[in-house]
Amino acid sequence: MNNVTTEVFAADDAGLSSAACVLEQGGLVAFPTETVYGLGVDARDSDAVARLYQAKGRPSFNPLIVHVASLEIAEKYVVFDAVARSLAQAFWPGALTLVLPLRLDAGISPLVTAGLDTLAIRVPDNSVAQGLMAAFDGPIAAPSANPSGQVSPTKFTHVQSQMAGRINGIVDGGDCGVGLESTIVATQPVPTLLRAGGLPAEALEAALGDTLALAGETTAPSSPGQLASHYAPKGTVRLNAVDVEPDETLLGFGAIEATVNLSPSGDLVEAAAALFDALHQLNALGAEKIAVSPIPDNGLGRAINDRLRRAAAPRSGAAT
Ligand code: TXA
Ligand code: MG
Repeated sequence: MNNVTTEVFAADDAGLSSAACVLEQGGLVAFPTETVYGLGVDARDSDAVARLYQAKGRPSFNPLIVHVASLEIAEKYVVFDAVARSLAQAFWPGALTLVLPLRLDAGISPLVTAGLDTLAIRVPDNSVAQGLMAAFDGPIAAPSANPSGQVSPTKFTHVQSQMAGRINGIVDGGDCGVGLESTIVATQPVPTLLRAGGLPAEALEAALGDTLALAGETTAPSSPGQLASHYAPKGTVRLNAVDVEPDETLLGFGAIEATVNLSPSGDLVEAAAALFDALHQLNALGAEKIAVSPIPDNGLGRAINDRLRRAAAPRSGAAT
């Protein structure tokens, strides 16, 4: 889908009800969540989901996250075990995605799950996303609203510059507060971290009273979208840079002089919120060689380092 007219919707009642109408008609509408902007479609409409994969250039074996307004609604689509229910009660709405057995009679398009018998589902904590879900009143499948493999969007302008002409609408709902995609957890056979994200693993482990297994360590399904090259800016990326070469542009962290600094005070929450915008800024500056300061690997630093490692990876495969 190219050269379609991309309507901009205000994040008020009228805008959200117009955006919901576009979803009802099988259209593609980007909207803010607290993590990143999502590109939403009706998760029950296979034609719409197929157009979504096409608009992103996303491999169709990489399944999507479904967004719903509450735990109660989520129960219509997936089967909760006791651990999953307690995590949902503790962290929803919020930056947690649970991978759970799909209810086959719930009407979710098989393209959403890429044929898996599990569904990734979450309840976003963002008033605009909640307003859109209330107006649409159905499950919204939404990957991040960027072309596959490129940097995820945390501002309306990121979506506009990357996706205008390819999608039917964008809700202009301000910046995403968390700035990193949700943390993905499967609870069977044991609680397993499938993707580090905007909810720190430490918070989940404190609630569980146990450590999370890592994908690959158990028979829990891995997230098929975790391809090596992802979040790629135009320039090359060198991690853990303690010195900067003359031809490099520094993406800094902490008390250091840098072209773009994720958090001069060394705050990981601030750095998470700034990460994707920083990569968009470096693209706009035409940075060809990006050096990145070391970033601590705890709390949100784990997800930041995960995204940066993928940004630095050789660019053969593309991801979400
Ligand atoms: O914060 C977020 O999660 C954002 C916002 C829009 O909600 N969405 C997002 O979606 O990051 P996306 O498509 O960029 O990433 C979805 C990830 C992929 O790695 C995919 O493989 C994984 O979720 N996934 C989806 N369904 C799955 C399943 N049934 N089992 C395992 N992993 C799954
Ligand atoms: Mg993505």
